[in-house]
Amino acid sequence: MDFAELIRRRYSVRAYKHDPVPEELLARVLEAARLAPTAANRQAFRLFVIRTEGRREELARVYSRAWFVDAPLVLGVCSLPAEAWVRRDGKSYADVDAAIVMDHLILAAASEGLGTCWVGAFDPAAARDLLSLPEGAEPIAFTPLGYPADKPTEKKRKSLEQLLRRERWS
Ligand SMILES: Cc1cc2nc3c(=O)[nH]c(=O)nc-3n(C[C@H](O)[C@H](O)[C@H](O)COP(=O)(O)O)c2cc1C
Repeated sequence: MDFAELIRRRYSVRAYKHDPVPEELLARVLEAARLAPTAANRQAFRLFVIRTEGRREELARVYSRAWFVDAPLVLGVCSLPAEAWVRRDGKSYADVDAAIVMDHLILAAASEGLGTCWVGAFDPAAARDLLSLPEGAEPIAFTPLGYPADKPTEKKRKSLEQLLRRERWS
């Protein structure tokens, strides 16, 4: 699949098969995340691989949609704000770094035929509990990882005309 097609084909999968994810596919997805660019190459993030088997109740406390625990795996990304690059005016890029990591793994998963769905609407306290996070780590996003059991719907996006400003705002 070429890159343009990959971008078109990726979608938020909200139904999963229980079939296991082969270890070599998981390894390639994690490698894509490892290679993600981060501000000043600080790599101020940690990845989590959580097997859903036997942990459905715990995971449901993090995010209660049934499909979240149907895939065999859930992946999580946490940022480490104290280690992240901060611009001179105080703007931290910790969240940006974590989002890029997440996007890398999501695109890598799609290229392997695996489904994912960004989950930002999770309960942060339950996530901290699940992952035994220390004070300095912040959970940013989760996704199930597994084979899709649904079909993509039409992409709804603003037109480029609405989104693009050439040179300046007006
Ligand atoms: C930062 C972020 C957080 C998101 N959080 C959730 C979420 O908590 N639950 C959910 O079902 N989808 C979530 N999504 C998925 C978006 O709803 C989805 O990407 C968007 O509607 C576009 O659809 P598509 O991914 O199928 O192209 C999130 C996406 C992003 C980028």
